[in-house]
Order: sequence, then C-alpha cells, then structure tokens
Amino acid sequence: MRRTKGTLPTVRFFSSLLLTRSAARTRPLHFMVPLSYHPSFFPSVPQNHTHQHPSFNTHQTLYFSSQSDSISELILSNPWSENTENKLQESNPTLTHESVLYVLKKLHKNPGKAAGFFRWVSNKDESKLGTVAYGLILRVLCHKEWMSEFWVVLGEMGKKGIELDEETYKTLRGCFSREKMAKEAASLTEFFNDMVQRSALDARVGTVVKIILGSDWSEEVEKKLGDLKISFSDVGVVKILREVRGYPLRALKFFKWVEERSGFSHNAVTYNAMIRILGRDDCVEDFWNMTKEMKGKGHEMDIDTYIKLLRQFLKWKMMKEAVELYEFMMEGPYKPSIQDCIVLLRQISLSGDPDLDLVFRVVRNYEASGYSLSKGVYDGIHRSLTSVGKFDEADKILSTMKDAGFEPDNITYSQVVFGLCKAGRLDEACEILNGMEAGGCTPDLKTWTILIQGHCLAGEVDKALSCFTNMMEKNCDPDADLLEVLVTGLCSKNRAGAAYTLVVEMVEKARLRPWQSTYKNLIQKLLGEGKLEEALKLLNIMKNHNFPPFPDPFVHYISKFGTVEDAKEFFKALTVKKFPTSTAYLHVFQSFLKEGRHSEAQDLLYKCPHHIRNHVDIVKLFSSTEVGSPA
Ligand SMILES: *[C@@H]1O[C@H](CO)[C@@H](O)[C@H](O)[C@H]1NC(C)=O
Ligand SMILES: *[C@@H]1O[C@H](CO)[C@@H](O)[C@H](O)[C@H]1NC(C)=O
Ligand SMILES: *[C@@H]1O[C@H](CO)[C@@H](O)[C@H](O)[C@H]1NC(C)=O
Repeated sequence: MRRTKGTLPTVRFFSSLLLTRSAARTRPLHFMVPLSYHPSFFPSVPQNHTHQHPSFNTHQTLYFSSQSDSISELILSNPWSENTENKLQESNPTLTHESVLYVLKKLHKNPGKAAGFFRWVSNKDESKLGTVAYGLILRVLCHKEWMSEFWVVLGEMGKKGIELDEETYKTLRGCFSREKMAKEAASLTEFFNDMVQRSALDARVGTVVKIILGSDWSEEVEKKLGDLKISFSDVGVVKILREVRGYPLRALKFFKWVEERSGFSHNAVTYNAMIRILGRDDCVEDFWNMTKEMKGKGHEMDIDTYIKLLRQFLKWKMMKEAVELYEFMMEGPYKPSIQDCIVLLRQISLSGDPDLDLVFRVVRNYEASGYSLSKGVYDGIHRSLTSVGKFDEADKILSTMKDAGFEPDNITYSQVVFGLCKAGRLDEACEILNGMEAGGCTPDLKTWTILIQGHCLAGEVDKALSCFTNMMEKNCDPDADLLEVLVTGLCSKNRAGAAYTLVVEMVEKARLRPWQSTYKNLIQKLLGEGKLEEALKLLNIMKNHNFPPFPDPFVHYISKFGTVEDAKEFFKALTVKKFPTSTAYLHVFQSFLKEGRHSEAQDLLYKCPHHIRNHVDIVKLFSSTEVGSPA
C-alpha cells in the first residue's frame, strides 16, 4: 500500500541513487524532455503547447472541438431520453460512416446509450449503418442484460441482408461462452451459418471472387470482370474485398479497377475496407498511399479500422507503422483515447530494445492534441527509458511527473528495478527495494518477482535465491508465477534437484499450487539429469493437485534407462483411484520392445494386474513380437 504522505524521502533516495548528474530539478511548465530525442517528428503536428500545466488535467474535452466529440459528450453526460434525442436533433450533426463508429466506440461502456444512439441513427439515416457499425453495436450489447436489444439488432441485420463478419461472429461467440450462455451461442451460430449459406448463393460476388483469385491480375482478368457487366454497390465491393483479403495486391487492383471501369465511386466504407487489407508488412507503402488518397478525398479512417490495424501492426512488431498510424489518427477528428496511447507506449516499451524516438513521437502527438499527461503515460515513457538503461532521463521524467502531481508508486519502482537488472546493475536494483520501504511504499510480490527474475536472467541464481529468502522474511508470500521464475532459473543452471526441493517445500509449507507448466518443465529437466525418483514424486504431487497425468517423458526415460521396478513405480504414480488405462500400459510395453528390452518387458508383464496381462491388445503385442523377433 502506498501512503501519499511520506513519499518525499523515497524520491530523494531514489534520485540520489540514480543520479550522478548535478542538475537542479527543473520545473518545466510542460513536458520538455522529448525534444532532445526528437529530430524527426511528424511534420504537421502543431508544436504550440497552449494547454495548461499537466497537473490541471481535468478539462481535456476543452480541446476537442470535433462534432463527434460533442455528440458523445452530450450522450455520456445525460441519461438517454427524449430530451437528449431532441438535443441531438437540434445540433443536426452531419453523420458519416466514420463519425457513427467513433461515437459508438466512445459509448461502448454504456450499452443502453449506445443502443439509443444506434436506434436514433437508424431512424435518421439508415444508410450510415453498415456491417462495421452493426458489428460494433453487437459487441457492445453482448451482455446478459442486453440480450433483447442484441437479438433485435441481429434480426435487423438479417432482414436488411447486412453481413455479420466472421471476426465479429467469433468475438460474440467468445463472449457468450465466457458468460456461459450456451443457448445464445447456438442461436448465433445458426444465424451465422444461415447467412454464410445465403451469401454463398450470391452468385455474382462468388464469380468475381473466383476470377480475382484465379490468377495474377492481368488484362485478361479485367476483361473477364468487364464481361460480367455487373453494377457494383459498396456492400458488394466490401464483400468481394473481404473474400480476397489474403491477396492484398490483387484486392488493390480490383479496388482501382472497379472505380475506373465500372463507374463505381468509392466511399468511406470501401476505402476503410481496402486499407484494412493493406495494413501488413509486405505492402506498407501501398497502405500509406491508399490512406492518403482516402484522406485526400475527404474520408477519414474509422476508429474500428484504426483499432484493427493497430492490433495487426503490434502483433507483427511493426512499431514504426503503429506509431505513424497513431499520429495519423491524432491529426484527424477521430482521436484515439488516452488508454490507446498508454497501450501503445506499453507495447513499445515491451519490445526488447524500445525505440525512444517512437516513444516521444507518441507523447508529443498526445500532448499536441490537448491531452495532459496521465500517470499511465508517464509510466509508459519511464518504462521505455529504464528498459534501455537511460536512468538519468528516467529520473527527469519522474521529477516532471511529481511536479504534475503524481507520486512514484510500486509500478514506478518496479520499472526501475527491471531496468537496473536488465543493465546488470543487480545490487542497485536490490537497493531500490530497501529504499522503497524506507519511503513507505512496501515492495509487493510483483516488485520482488521482477527483482528475482532479473537476477535469474542475469545468471545470478544464488543471489536470486537470497532475494527470495529476504522476501519470505518480510512475510511476502510467493505465488506460482514466482515459483516458475525460480524453477526456470535453477534449471537453466542444471540444478533441477534444487528446483525440486524448492517446489516440494513451497507446496508443503506455503500451500502453493504450482502451474502445470512448471511441473511439466521440471519433470523433463529432472529426467534429463537422471533423477527419476524425484520426477516420480513430482508426478505424485501433480496428481494431488488434480492435474492430468504427464506420462510421455517417463515412458521414454524408463524404457531406455529404467528397471522393471521403476516401471511399476511409474504405474503406481499414474494410478488415481483406479488402475491406469490399458493404453498407458500398452505404451510402456511398446516402448520397452522398441528399445529391444524384451526380457524386461516380459518381467514387467508378469507383474501387471490380471486384466492387463489378458488384455487383447497387449496379448497381441507380445505374440506379434515373438513371432516377428529374429531369435
Ligand atoms: C501559440 O498559440 C497561441 C494561440 O493560438 C498564440 O497566441 C501564441 O502566440 C502561440 N505561441 C507560439 C510560441 O507560437
Ligand atoms: C506511393 O506513392 C508515391 C508518391 O505518389 C509513389 O512514388 C510510389 O510509387 C507509390 N507506391 C506504391 C507502392 O504504389
Ligand atoms: C501495484 O500495486 C497495485 C495495488 O496494490 C497492484 O494492483 C499492482 O499489481 C502493483 N503493480 C506492480 C507493478 O507492482
């Protein structure tokens, strides 16, 4: 627990520990540090910081003038009522595909309001609600208490022939299964399958898709498409694009062709569908060109597309693209939320060697849009700095953060501990924990775990164990995560025996329930070091924790190196209330025979229970090997 009073000594300690510089603590009016890292930020970001001191971070909406922001403000600050609807009506907003999605996204934590807004748009201008908007509202309404609205919306989709895309379908399924709503899940699947069948019957879409997927793009392909004499709608184009998404360049050719040759004019919906497909590492340039073209035509990237693209970029570790995408959105009217900035910073900091330039580009954009830095953002910057060992700069950020009214807390300290360990400065990392305590912020299990893991990763397993002892002395109880860290550390030094002792002790004394993966890894390591007895004991403990048996490495080991007695012990360890299955026995026999250990297999067979000896598969196995064996 952190006390607000009494944190001062902590910080003083912290600074004096980390700093060799003599710099006086500056108190900048706004966030200054990034400048020095920032040779090339996005050119169009305004650099005039007219906003207030970061500690007055209450009125961020002041800076948001976009119409969609005022709509969501209006809805969020009032109950959904006729009055609210009238106010909305009076403001007479221009609805676009992008603005509707943006507002829905802002309302996602208020299903009732989101549903009200959705209905209102639907009455006003139905054409603004396409697959994406329907998908979004369904995701918002996917809760037990909103089921009636959910089915109304889904029913409407069915009637209007609006497609439920596969990704949304999977998300909704996942949500139903998490909430244990099997009946709903079944109805949804039925709806989806029906829809897939019906759209498969949409022969024209199918024909176009087949032609595009049939070969590389060529004049021949264009001619075939032209001969179909189809007039395209945006729904049709989006469907086709989705079907050919695995071939982004062909999709792009089709996208261009359909406008040039068939008189179809692209809109925000089709553009967004196109750029979603192009957001991958093998066509980044096309992606940006198309995004710019879209913007040039007055369409915006919708917030749903943004979120999906960002997720994609992060998944493929395309950090630069992720940041550029963020910058692009922050310039437009549909700005990502504060949380998005924090998530992005977090992801950058987690990439093994965080790029500070990217960190500050994000922060600068965030600030330039009028947001003031929150604790989460400071943490994000600080995490990257400590991760690359820039402790002086990290400390500067901390003083800026303190000036803004945020005290260092367990997260702050944990980040410094992580960075120091990563930089091999283990003693200093330990000092941080002592200092924290002196400052009244008790290190928690997470902080200890980071410290101990840092030691293990640096190969200092004995020191890690001594930190662990310190931790136990301070009455901080370990958990399965920490045990996993220690076991991995010990095993990496070929000390599986010590890891085994530790696990047994933790299970007995601290009543800890290790992860299944910890058991499995340790069993394999023990067998690797020839410690069958310990491995078997571990198998027994694992059984007591109700994990399924883990026989494979044992079978392998015993048939190679073990005795008949070992095999018997193994069968005993596998026994839960009743004997192991005949298949389990069969595997062991097969394995012995494969190793050429026929006599041991025979001995073992003799010691097995009657029903196993007479089991048809086992009898067959032995008779066939006798016949088949050369001697
Ligand atoms: C920043 O913008 C404000 C208002 O737009 C203006 O008054 C001020 O002169 C600008 N400051 C700088 C340094 O450009
Ligand atoms: C993207 O646009 C630029 C400038 O218009 C152009 O030079 C480049 O060839 C385009 N790239 C692709 C892959 O189309
Ligand atoms: C910090 O403390 C909070 C509240 O006790 C806890 O939820 C969080 O996991 C801790 N984080 C770290 C990194 O220690």
